[in-house]
Amino acid sequence: MINSKTAIAFEKHFGRKPLMFIAPGRINLIGEHTDYNEGFVMPAAINKHFVFAIESNQTDLFNITANDLDEQISFALDGLKGGNRWENYLMGIVDSFKRRGRKMGGVNCLFSSGIPSGAGLSSSAALCSGFAFALNEIFECGLSKLELALIAQEAEHRFAGTKCGIMDMYASLFSKEGSVMLLDCRSNTHEYLPVHFEGFEILLIDTKVRHSLNESGYNDRRASCEEGVAVLQRTFANVKSLRDVNAEMLEASKSLMSENIFKKCFYIVREIERTQKAAILLKSNDLTGFGNLMYETHWGLSKDYDVSCEESDWLVNWASENRITGARQMGGGFGGCTINLIKKELRPAIIDDVRKKYFAAFKKEPDFYQVELSGGVHKTKTVLDWRER
Ligand code: GLA
Repeated sequence: MINSKTAIAFEKHFGRKPLMFIAPGRINLIGEHTDYNEGFVMPAAINKHFVFAIESNQTDLFNITANDLDEQISFALDGLKGGNRWENYLMGIVDSFKRRGRKMGGVNCLFSSGIPSGAGLSSSAALCSGFAFALNEIFECGLSKLELALIAQEAEHRFAGTKCGIMDMYASLFSKEGSVMLLDCRSNTHEYLPVHFEGFEILLIDTKVRHSLNESGYNDRRASCEEGVAVLQRTFANVKSLRDVNAEMLEASKSLMSENIFKKCFYIVREIERTQKAAILLKSNDLTGFGNLMYETHWGLSKDYDVSCEESDWLVNWASENRITGARQMGGGFGGCTINLIKKELRPAIIDDVRKKYFAAFKKEPDFYQVELSGGVHKTKTVLDWRER
């Protein structure tokens, strides 16, 4: 059990019992790249998470151990800097607390991760959200979950250089067991949609293709959307983001923008509409209709938004040829996982066939994760409680 292992490792290292926190990764059923366009997304936390064992140490030093990596670092409250190693994300969180005038001291912290990194499951958002949540509790800073999500997002922007939207950290903090959420990224409010997947389940297939989001592709897509908005504003002065744009407005501005910018905006405008349609289908439990929208999203991501890769396209093609209910690449893109809505009884046959054929095509083994919809970041029991179980 990752929780008890983490607590025991902390005790060995620091000689005391820690406070324990869990911070989950997320899936996203539909609504990709719409969050930074003030659109809708449909994420849920999953049963893959970070575990933090942590205590205040009454100094201004942050002594942190990444248990799985067997790496330790110490940084001071006034020694915070950007970069894309794991400690920079944590420094970004501390910096954002400071910028908001929150008083805090150092901590001893040891964490472990059960979220494969670079797989599109938002491990960095879980790292940031979990650490922020723990600091908020320990130093009684009184920040709301929404403020913690904004802090986690700010840490990624300012310290890791990824201009991500709010979906990942919001999902990690606000999710509810057994539900997905329809998150409105304009108002930063959500509605839980209970999921009744009788006879169906979610299967993630990891392409094992890894592209870090702080490489330029992700930020470039965001810049293209902003460029599109600037062009649209010449004709439609009230447009603030692609959320305010429909297909006719975009068509009317087509001749004013490059084909590349048009395609990026076209995908986003359709995806925002699709996500709202998908929420209606989910409420009426029309999983076939929902699955068809997942396929539409994928081909939009691949052909218009241009964030897919050969391996993801291969997996989604395999899924549609084998009449899988829904499949698409998930997350920021350029690899990571595909999310598949499948009939439960098909899982062994899917795994068997995909494993063989994917290996024959790409000379690497995919991974398969069957995930449950879980609750968001929370404090959990100490090592003693775990041993008593
Ligand atoms: C990454 C970002 C999110 C979101 C997705 C794409 O996960 O962190 O904010 O933009 O990509 O939907």
